[in-house]
Amino acid sequence: MSLEPATVGAIVPAAGRGERFRGATPKALVPIRGRPLVQHALEAIHRVDEVVAIVVVGPAHVLDAMRELVAAARLDKVTAVIAGGADRQASVARGLEALPAAADLVLIHDGARPCVTPGLVRAVVAAAATAGAATAAVPIEDTVKRGEDGWVTSTLDRTQLYRVQTPQAFHRAVLERAHREALRSGFHGTDDAALVEQLGHPVRLVAGDAGNLKVTVPEDLAVAEALLGRGGGPADAVRVEQHAEAPAVDAAVVRDGDEIGRALLEQRADQVVRDSVQAESADRERRSARDVGDRFRARSDDFVHTSATSPTHAVRKPVLSLSKEQGGPKLPDGRGDIHPLCR
Ligand code: CTP
Ligand code: MG
Repeated sequence: MSLEPATVGAIVPAAGRGERFRGATPKALVPIRGRPLVQHALEAIHRVDEVVAIVVVGPAHVLDAMRELVAAARLDKVTAVIAGGADRQASVARGLEALPAAADLVLIHDGARPCVTPGLVRAVVAAAATAGAATAAVPIEDTVKRGEDGWVTSTLDRTQLYRVQTPQAFHRAVLERAHREALRSGFHGTDDAALVEQLGHPVRLVAGDAGNLKVTVPEDLAVAEALLGRGGGPADAVRVEQHAEAPAVDAAVVRDGDEIGRALLEQRADQVVRDSVQAESADRERRSARDVGDRFRARSDDFVHTSATSPTHAVRKPVLSLSKEQGGPKLPDGRGDIHPLCR
């Protein structure tokens, strides 16, 4: 089934409790570059022509504040601001019910990922229109191991591993079936692609963006803030354009503002390396905490590992290419197809 052009309805789950963020203000409303966190994602999605409706899913007690921000920002594609459920899956399910009937393709993007670009949204939507299901993803560059009781049990083949992000997009019928089936079977997934996978339906991998981080802990704010640059200026347009034309190439590194974000991501990545070699030494950890980089308590699920010898690697490296002429998605160094389903 191909949708040309797709009528896209977007769901923005932003109803989480932000427990790891540990803030008094609901995470979705925490200001970043002068705007509530969730507003950044909403604005990026709003700029995508194919998106005709947006449903915002928020915490029940702040829906009025969310409606106010939607009105103030003139996000007139927002058709509903509704209360979320007990977990992300339940929040998306509610969003799905509130989506206008005209939407035949559903875009889902976490309100907690403010650095998404309209270009990445378009790339995921385009892939889902033909494949039925698609997700943004970036290859894992760290070595990944299984462990048990403090001992390594095996080393995984990282060439087959990806960190999955949102945006994700699905034919509406597929997503509705996936949610219905998950409800019936009691399956719980941390993203919507997992539910669709349970149906046995293939999910297309689309080149994500290392800068498309999820704000999870307080330290992420500074990184996201830098990545957002000066926010909304002409440089944003350059970034969007570049992503639209060449989704896999350097989209996050075209602005002065990104220089700072890149540096911060590198610092976070370097911190992971430091943490792993210094874990046994509380003293040395305290010393390194004086470094500016240590303000960003890195977590391995939020960035692509970089190294000191490749200072711009974390966000510069093109990840996947979706060019049909080149025979579908490839890894950047020509190592071959990214996934059997994408051939
Ligand atoms: N989310 C949601 N409804 C829930 C739980 C999560 O809409 N019941 C949303 C969050 O608001 C966020 C996205 O799903 O935009 C990803 O979740 P996460 O980053 O884990 O945010 P929180 O659940 O808010 O954070 P935490 O897990 O630390 O409580
Ligand atoms: Mg959560």
